[in-house]
Amino acid sequence: VMKLIIDCDAGVDDAMALIMALDYVRKGKAQVLAVTCVQGNTGLDNVVVNVLRTMNAMDIQVPVYRGAKDPLIGPYIRHGPPFHGEDGLGDAHFDTTPDLSVVSSEHASLAIARLVRDNPDEVTLIATGPLTNVALAIKMDPDFTKLLHSFYIMGGNLNGRGNITTCAEFNFHNDPEAALVTLTESLTPPRMITFDLCISQALFSLDWRKNKLGQKATRQARFQNKIEDTLLKAFEKYYGDYSMWDQVAVAAALNPGQVVTEASSACASVELAGQHTRGQMIIESRLRQDDRKNNVVIVDKIDKTALENMVLDAFD
Ligand code: BDR
Ligand code: CA
Repeated sequence: VMKLIIDCDAGVDDAMALIMALDYVRKGKAQVLAVTCVQGNTGLDNVVVNVLRTMNAMDIQVPVYRGAKDPLIGPYIRHGPPFHGEDGLGDAHFDTTPDLSVVSSEHASLAIARLVRDNPDEVTLIATGPLTNVALAIKMDPDFTKLLHSFYIMGGNLNGRGNITTCAEFNFHNDPEAALVTLTESLTPPRMITFDLCISQALFSLDWRKNKLGQKATRQARFQNKIEDTLLKAFEKYYGDYSMWDQVAVAAALNPGQVVTEASSACASVELAGQHTRGQMIIESRLRQDDRKNNVVIVDKIDKTALENMVLDAFD
């Protein structure tokens, strides 16, 4: 059984990604050691509530930790109400508030390092939000990253095309310093699920979303349909397609053999200073042949059908 730590800023796509991981838990194929919360799509307090709501929708409880409430250095930047709503779950109405007493008092970054050390070479770390918690864990205990089984990040971009700014992807732009620390100091190279990969290979039609997923009536499907109302309107208005983000990272981590069909090593950094480019991922192409300098693995191709099946199964 694989052991996971999911660091997220839920977020409606983080919520779906978490449901996919919990689907593997209910099938006995994975154990989630921790869901660690970080500021991002919405403030930290909302992220914690959103994670608890998502677990309730699956009726599976796993340990939850609070992490960073601000980026390391820059100001707090969120992904904005058009996509995730003010509260991160599309400002959907809920009758009940989850019980916050289940949230651990240990800081998320301490928990990440401790759990990896307690389970050497067994933990897959999946980061689907800004990398603030992960960078803090690395700065506190750099060697824990050596003990990871594998490491997946949804974030960054390859060609200077972004979603939150012209040049940067949201998770990197929100906390570029944390992204830089993570890419350059992790001793296990992260497998990158980039913006470019998501918008080219994890695109579904809005009809697919409405008919395939929208028709399901399980508790978690009704939950997801409710929280995605806002997002679907934004997708309709701005993109015309349904794009998956964090779902790709979780699918790749849960089932790398099937989902990831091509990957390549690269030497990556993050722009910190540019007026237009802050948070842009930078690939050093001149060194691409030099293995010593490579610090990330770029996921170049995924099997979209494998991703689709994993998404649909999670909502049955
Ligand atoms: C990322 O930004 C967030 O809004 C999503 O949850 C995803 O993690 C995509 O750029
Ligand atoms: Ca996210």
